[in-house]
Amino acid sequence: MSVNQFIQDHKERFLNELLDLLRIPSVSADPKFKDEVFKAANFVKESLINAGADTAEICETAGYPIVYGEKIIDPALPTVLVYGHYDVQPADPYELWDSPPFEPVIKKTKIHPEGAIFARGSADDKGQFYMHVKAFEAMMAAGELPCNVKFMIEGEEEVGSDNLDKFVIENKEKLKSDVILISDTHMISMQDPSITVGLRGMAYMEVEVTGSNRDLHSGTYGGAVANPINVLCDMIASMKDENEHITIPGFYDKVQELTAEQRSRLNEAPFDLEEYKSKLDINEVHGEKGYTTIERVGIRPTLDVNGIWGGYIGEGAKTVLPSKAYAKISMRLVPDQDWKEIAKLFEDHFKSIAPASVKVKVKSHHGGAPAVVSDTSVGYQAAEAAMEETFGKRPVPTREGGSIPIVALFQKELGSDPILFGFGLDTDALHSPNEHYGVQNYFIGIETIAAFFRHFRKLSEA
Ligand code: BES
Ligand code: MN
Ligand code: MN
Repeated sequence: MSVNQFIQDHKERFLNELLDLLRIPSVSADPKFKDEVFKAANFVKESLINAGADTAEICETAGYPIVYGEKIIDPALPTVLVYGHYDVQPADPYELWDSPPFEPVIKKTKIHPEGAIFARGSADDKGQFYMHVKAFEAMMAAGELPCNVKFMIEGEEEVGSDNLDKFVIENKEKLKSDVILISDTHMISMQDPSITVGLRGMAYMEVEVTGSNRDLHSGTYGGAVANPINVLCDMIASMKDENEHITIPGFYDKVQELTAEQRSRLNEAPFDLEEYKSKLDINEVHGEKGYTTIERVGIRPTLDVNGIWGGYIGEGAKTVLPSKAYAKISMRLVPDQDWKEIAKLFEDHFKSIAPASVKVKVKSHHGGAPAVVSDTSVGYQAAEAAMEETFGKRPVPTREGGSIPIVALFQKELGSDPILFGFGLDTDALHSPNEHYGVQNYFIGIETIAAFFRHFRKLSEA
């Protein structure tokens, strides 16, 4: 039986197994789900064994475990390393979900007339890494596994992959491979397949601004003592100029400027601005002057407030001049910005612009490096050929705005080419209520991954 026939014959089971995995609320950020995260790790391990792995193990770390499994058919053949994550983002706010986030349901949508799986983690990243497990199973069952395969599925991606660096550095020999496959990104659309070749990095900060030593009556003191919320807003606003250019000194020093030719190639990717706006229900886009939307997301850094709080936010009106104000601020970075340097520049600048009327504290949360991957490597060519086969159209390279910080570490420590072989869509609502993943995306992904293995073997031998 052929690989594709096996996939066809086992569609229902392949789907049901994914639904079982989605029922496990493996939220890495919230300690209340600790047991569930471990349960998901076990599920992954069992699924690798059932699919035909020689070995699969739970590798303990200081945090959540990394699941490692492999099938070595012949050490002389090329080896594919698959990376993914079984942890998911918190599902909050629950009330904005149309169905409970950990009770997956399949519903039709405009973009997915064949149905999409609604659940937290369906697209990011359970539905995507599980395609690799099923493609592996199908290749094994058909007796047509063309390459050795290794799996490394982690449980801390959504909280910064703190323990993965160490694992990778300490297990270089075990993880040795000729290519790394990662399905944790988007395509342009089902009609316009694409392969991601750029990801942004990240520096995530938290600031605290303190005015008086206690909350004050806003009549008695208002106008005479600094309001830390007002001050924080001014400080944040001053960090961008009228062109949406970030004003932190040195911020752009290491930003790679693309050539006019590189920029025009980037902008050749299919993109419909009107459709983009209408899908988001916005009248106008917003961003750095002189750059297109594709460029603003793909090749330019950002500074965004993710959350801001302080003072009175309860029912009704309370007249108060708060003592403290807070904000969580993230900066998406591009090559060759270094997140630790940027975090330091931010901290120094934020302190320097604070008026004498307040005290400020700055803390750096996690960060991560940006990455650009080759669009000419053997792995890329195999991915291109595989997509051309299943989608009937040659994929284009794109740069995405999201971050997978570990990609840069793979490049540095493992030396093989990572291929960002994602099958999601930007409408999948990652990290949002009603996250979903197309049923068709799931199955075409499984087929395309199997095709990749065939092409990679062939091209590696050429
Ligand atoms: N899968 C995403 C990253 C992603 C999403 C890349 C869409 C490209 C397109 C990943 O799980 C993620 O959410 N990453 C975080 C990184 C952070 C926690 C360090 C992100 O981008 O915010
Ligand atoms: Mn992800
Ligand atoms: Mn994510």
